[in-house]
Amino acid sequence: METVRSVAALRARVHAWRADGHRIALTPTMGALHEGHLGLVALGRAHAERVVASIFVNPTQFGPGEDLAAYPRGEARDSAMLAGAGCDLLFAPPPDEMYPPGFATRVQVEGLTECLCGKARPGHFDGVAQVVTKLLNQAQADVAIFGEKDWQQLAVIRRLAADLDIPTEILGAPIAREADGLAMSSRNRYLDAAQRAVAGQLNQVIFAAADRIAHGAAAGPETAAAADRLLVAGFDAVDYVECRSAEALAPVELFDPSVPARVFAAARLGRARLIDNVPVAPAG
Ligand code: PAJ
Repeated sequence: METVRSVAALRARVHAWRADGHRIALTPTMGALHEGHLGLVALGRAHAERVVASIFVNPTQFGPGEDLAAYPRGEARDSAMLAGAGCDLLFAPPPDEMYPPGFATRVQVEGLTECLCGKARPGHFDGVAQVVTKLLNQAQADVAIFGEKDWQQLAVIRRLAADLDIPTEILGAPIAREADGLAMSSRNRYLDAAQRAVAGQLNQVIFAAADRIAHGAAAGPETAAAADRLLVAGFDAVDYVECRSAEALAPVELFDPSVPARVFAAARLGRARLIDNVPVAPAG
């Protein structure tokens, strides 16, 4: 697997593959890879003959006081994992390739970014929208794969691709989880052993809340009780537990099986901020 660091080199590879008749998939990441990221590469492979992964710890999506400096970096390990997963090309640009002097353009998606993580992390989705717009334009792939773990991010990216006429098809990949339900995340490595034992509760608690909402319970009291359960379980703080429609992210109080809905949560445990979401499955 080759590594390129400039947009020009990335475009040259992609154009050569396209001239050979290949479809191309892009899987953007910030590195610190785990099995969940490799699932994105595998899904890319299923939809294209060539897979490009990007690794770029995007400074514009981190707020002041967030973990930009501490975000785990290790390109050699990441690169070996990508090669093992069948990735064809790694695009790992330095910051000034992405944001050269004079860079002045912002990308802001309204509405979808104002709730959930957008509320808890002001400006975060502006940075995500900015870098993902650039990555999609740089790679000009046929498909780009994003994880459902970051469901709101996926919704924002679908919106911006549609609004800005970006021709790349956006695909969601299912959430990869540990045995106890904890969604795999680069930030899980911030957890010590005691915190790791607590962390699985995030998924279990919202799964139980989603089940009760599916069976007719009102979402407000269920999600409030879920937040309390997380605090009792040992989480330090709960940013939110909310039930919302899957596409528009509109608040849901009583589940209507004709409108797909999900329970979303973000909670803090030591240095880690963990997020998760589960579907409200129609009672069968
Ligand atoms: P990062 O957190 O590295 O995640 C890269 C991609 O992997 C995202 O699409 C994310 O949703 C997906 N992912 C992470 N954990 C997952 C899991 N357990 N199961 C399934 N998919 C998972 O998300 C970002 O980077 C950045 O915001 C980025 C889109 C690269 C823009 O900078």
